Amino acid sequence: MATVQDETGSAQVGAVIVLAAGAGTRMRSSKSKLLHEVAGHSMLSYAVNAAEEVQPRRLVVVVGHLREQVTAHLNEVAPFCKIAVQEEQRGTGHAVQCGLAEIDKLEGEIVVTYGDVPMLSGGTLQQLVEAHRKNQNAITVLTAEVPDPTGYGRIIRSGDTIARIVEHRDANPDELAVKEINSGIYVFAPDVLQAGLAELKTDNSQGELYLTDVIDYANRVGKRVGAWVTDDLWQTEGVNDRVQLARMSAEMNRRICEKWMRAGVTIIDPNTTWIDADVDLAEDVTLYPGTHLHGATSVATGAVIGPDTTLENVEVGAGARVLKSHCSLAVIGPNANVGPFSYLRPGTELFEGGKIGAFVETKNAKIGKESKIPHLTYCGDAVIEEGVNIGAGTIFANYDGTNKSKTHIGAQAFVGSNSVLVAPIDIAAGAFIAAGSAVTEDVPAGSLGVARARQHVSKDWVKKHRPASKAASAAESVSDMVHPDVQESREKLTATKPEEYK
Ligand code: UD1
Ligand code: CA
Repeated sequence: MATVQDETGSAQVGAVIVLAAGAGTRMRSSKSKLLHEVAGHSMLSYAVNAAEEVQPRRLVVVVGHLREQVTAHLNEVAPFCKIAVQEEQRGTGHAVQCGLAEIDKLEGEIVVTYGDVPMLSGGTLQQLVEAHRKNQNAITVLTAEVPDPTGYGRIIRSGDTIARIVEHRDANPDELAVKEINSGIYVFAPDVLQAGLAELKTDNSQGELYLTDVIDYANRVGKRVGAWVTDDLWQTEGVNDRVQLARMSAEMNRRICEKWMRAGVTIIDPNTTWIDADVDLAEDVTLYPGTHLHGATSVATGAVIGPDTTLENVEVGAGARVLKSHCSLAVIGPNANVGPFSYLRPGTELFEGGKIGAFVETKNAKIGKESKIPHLTYCGDAVIEEGVNIGAGTIFANYDGTNKSKTHIGAQAFVGSNSVLVAPIDIAAGAFIAAGSAVTEDVPAGSLGVARARQHVSKDWVKKHRPASKAASAAESVSDMVHPDVQESREKLTATKPEEYK
């Protein structure tokens, strides 16, 4: 997974323990808080990705609340994680004890992070580990100076070391005034962590085992506890409810848009453009307002997307144009044209220079080079070779109520407007289908298929059956001559058009 974060050096640590057992009640969701997504990935997957960047020998996720969901998700996105179960949430100290129990050999630093802090980057964790090593700390706490520290544990300093962390609800007025907060992200020397956890007590306002009390322990035994202050406050921000989730998503998106603009993408309106973390964009791509790019979508150079377009796992070729459309699991070739108002469903593959136009729905359809489906068509389960023109209102009848069947249309074939192609059917190269046909038999190469009744005209029908009507007097006032525009078109055609094709 690509992230917007920087990458600095690397650091092999003993373990990262990601705390993810909490209830997340304020989300008011039947889905685990950690599975809610920001820019196309679960919050938990960001935590695991950041953890990976410090190259831990063991990566342990502590699960509890809704743990079946969380475990199933981890098995999918990060099967290499070890899972520790915290049956009862008895505090952050207890959660780390549960995590440690899954680590056979304690060797190297132990990093502790949370599963609900999606913006924390691997780079920040690396810097935290480097500061820890450089200052020969027993514990290093990632801290931040925030304007409103309400709810957070406060950092009580003694010179340039940390003496204690006091929880908001256990703090006195002097301590409450401290603006430096505990992010809950730490690096520990393994022996100090283990010994400190063994001494934890529940003598606090919540009756919990506080991980922060390990800092008291370290100070008591004369070990150094340092802080590493970040000025990117977003990186310490947790998500507890859907208001914070939306704020976090907006900030993540702002960063992603900024990254792509710096990489040469024109984004007309970053506020209405949403780009997932894994999307890949080339230089000189242009995104109009209301463009939403999801999943593993990629857009090649010179392509123009939007306005009001959603692409989910779509590959767009160089110079293509996609206007006001919804496309999912599709490939749009170089210099191809899509939209406005096109619906490309999974398995659509539009080749170079092809066109899918207004009110056209495609599914599981290959549309060859320079082939065009410009208007009002359903095209499903089809292979269309190159240079084909599909007339307005053509329906590929691929479903008989039981089976889905295929249609093949050979190169340079022409399908007249308002035709129904009843699959399975093969219209071979260079064949023509007359407008309004319901095609139920194959049409061989170079042949004309006409599958409709001939026109019958009842002369003077209106005069007989609707006398004295407006239609009758209108008919009276004109000669039998066809309109000059039509006559002109007809004269142009007579040379080329076969008599039976009308
Ligand atoms: C904790 C810190 C506080 C810090 C804050 C930062 C303690 C005692 N306090 O407070 O100093 O400012 O984080 O957000 O550590 N969790 C478990 N099992 C538990 C309890 C918690 O897995 O038994 C997990 C939660 O899912 C969550 C994280 O640990 O991801 C923090 O828990 P939370 O209850 O939110 O801690 P705070 O009280 O906010
Ligand atoms: Ca919290």
